[in-house]
Amino acid sequence: MEYFIASDIPAVLEYTKNFYFLDDNEFSVIEKDNINFFDKELNTIYKKYKTINLNCSNSTKNGYEDFMLKEIFEQPKAIANTINKRIVLNTKCNFSDSNLSKYDLINVEEIYIVACGTAMHAGLVGKNIIEKLCKIPTYVEIASEFRYHDPIINKNTLCIFISQSGETADTIAALKLAKGKGCKTIAITNVIGSSITREAHFSFYTHAGPEIAVASTKAYTCQIALLCLLAIYIAEVLESTSFDILENLKSELLSLPEKIELVLQNKEEIKKIAKQVYLEKDIFFLGRGIDYAISLEGSLKLKEISYIHSEAYAAGELKHGPIALIENGTYVVGILTDNELISKTISNLQEVISRGAKIFVITNQELFNNTFDLVFNIPKTNSLLSPILSIVPLQIFAYYIAKEKELDVDKPRNLAKSVTVE
Ligand code: M6R
Repeated sequence: MEYFIASDIPAVLEYTKNFYFLDDNEFSVIEKDNINFFDKELNTIYKKYKTINLNCSNSTKNGYEDFMLKEIFEQPKAIANTINKRIVLNTKCNFSDSNLSKYDLINVEEIYIVACGTAMHAGLVGKNIIEKLCKIPTYVEIASEFRYHDPIINKNTLCIFISQSGETADTIAALKLAKGKGCKTIAITNVIGSSITREAHFSFYTHAGPEIAVASTKAYTCQIALLCLLAIYIAEVLESTSFDILENLKSELLSLPEKIELVLQNKEEIKKIAKQVYLEKDIFFLGRGIDYAISLEGSLKLKEISYIHSEAYAAGELKHGPIALIENGTYVVGILTDNELISKTISNLQEVISRGAKIFVITNQELFNNTFDLVFNIPKTNSLLSPILSIVPLQIFAYYIAKEKELDVDKPRNLAKSVTVE
């Protein structure tokens, strides 16, 4: 008999698939052929191990140079694994793994999505989808802010907590706070049995497989896909959006893996762009609406692994200050997928071009007579889902810039994969 002690499942997946999970204030005594568990008063606790059916090859690089690149390329499969079992055409999405019912949803007056970092950025995309489909006001908050400002929430508030690891200290504290105030709580996580799932009333898993690189990629796109399915399910239960719109969205979701493959096939195009810009000191990301949410994530990805200073702005905010930073040669990435806002963003990009900025645009539209330096095209999809496609070139962009700078993309300086302290 052998026992291993680890803070994360993938660390020992090579040796075992059977895991005991320790909760707060619990202890374990391991002997050669025996293991016992105790609470803080040293009373014996009976625990049964859980079998985690994850493939150990998910925790190796599998021929890729880095985990981050492997995880970017795993996105088509990760999304398919996350959505396929839940999507049922012509009838309600399958959320039967929890008891989330009409009874839990009918009195919901507002929704809070609470998370940190990239998971919070997924929440921003989720807010847009939930409001459009469920017609319920939805707010996104950073967990470390939410937990300390005494949020006005109650039994009619549904709180959704997103965390890849399920172990982020601020997100767990925010969840405990919301429960204490009587809210219904949902956890969205990638790690089976993680702390967040043991706290929330309802838990739903992304099936992205272990994410090892510190920079989150596949977990993010899977979180958005799952939020979209949850929004569709709530809309089906509450009958807040027409059957045809919801069915169309499900079909679009099912076609995403194929469309992501198309983006991945053009990685060399992005690599060339990365070679041209890796020595930049500052890179700005601009977008409006959902493209602003993607700008925030693209900017975070770039700064955390390439150490290039980067900021994202809602393009309409430029005139209110940030345009002062634009000078000859400043590098700006523009995201143009939101049909209704594209002409507005283009005119903001013209304003920075006239001040000497160099522009790289990511778009799903045909741009006629444009004056942009570089344009990268992505496939069209339902506008609610375009973030799942537009983020992929930005992940690759950050990756190749960091590689050009010969940095350790998987373990960027000063960062940890799971932030288990405040
Ligand atoms: O495990 P979590 O999703 O709760 O982690 C939240 C953030 O720490 C995480 O997304 C972080 O921002 C990533 N390094 C971003 O790539």
